[in-house]
Amino acid sequence: MQVWTVSNQKGGVGKTTTVITLAGLLVKRGYRVLAVDTDPQASLGYYLGVDPDELPGSLYDLFRGHDELDLPMVESVIVPTGTPQLDLLPASTALATLDRTLGTKDGMGLILKRILSMVAHRYDAVLIDCPPVLGVLMINALAACDRIVVPVQTEFLALKGLDRMVRTLEMVGRSKGTRYPFTIVPTMFDKRTRASLQALTALTQKYPRDLWHSVIPVDTRFRDASQAHLPPSHFDAGARGVQAYSQLLDALLDQQGVAHV
Ligand SMILES: Nc1ncnc2c1ncn2[C@@H]1O[C@H](COP(=O)(O)OP(=O)(O)O)[C@@H](O)[C@H]1O
Ligand SMILES: [Mg+2]
Repeated sequence: MQVWTVSNQKGGVGKTTTVITLAGLLVKRGYRVLAVDTDPQASLGYYLGVDPDELPGSLYDLFRGHDELDLPMVESVIVPTGTPQLDLLPASTALATLDRTLGTKDGMGLILKRILSMVAHRYDAVLIDCPPVLGVLMINALAACDRIVVPVQTEFLALKGLDRMVRTLEMVGRSKGTRYPFTIVPTMFDKRTRASLQALTALTQKYPRDLWHSVIPVDTRFRDASQAHLPPSHFDAGARGVQAYSQLLDALLDQQGVAHV
């Protein structure tokens, strides 16, 4: 089972879009996929047409009950989505309170990793969506994954946010005695604008090792797909943006040494 976390401390850079598009593409390639929403805003759930207020439980209940976690408890919270082979471990607004209640206790950073190990036999891939804040949820998402995907909007201000995110990854990694492998993905690239081109040049110079070699173009089909509550891969498989994510998926599978279909 591959576990990838999509994270950036800046909002609106394409995190949720990256999760849902990669998830849809993996499903189309025959993978059984679990999407995990750790963002209290629950955008991923809303995107997939799942209203967190109408669900029996959420990731919050698993964190609250972390002392007695077991498979039935985890399974009771996971819901199917309108897309076959794609399940959701949903968020709820209560997740925002976890930093206050759990944040400082020992071992709190490994709860999500434990949750995922319990359902590892049911899925081939897990994609974790993150809130744009460094807190107990992001720490859990980092500790649970094999690779971090960092979408960055190709514009000047977003580059500043990226520097902060990379420093966070280094800092958290050092405290755990590890280095988190990450891939920076330029998103919403518009080749007609100077801002996009300049941002890409700056990224290439600053992060030659961790930058994906291509870009995700700006594509209005992403917004249309979200309004239809469908993964972009299932809404318009031929869209330019979906094709670009398919190339990204190949690169990520290669990096993890997974043969792709
Ligand atoms: N490549 C893209 N081209 C055009 N619009 C995009 C693209 N990626 C994301 N969007 C749109 O940008 C907005 C923010 O994206 P989202 O994935 O929700 O960001 P985040 O999760 O980082 O806050 C959404 O309305 C989404 O549809
Ligand atoms: Mg989001």
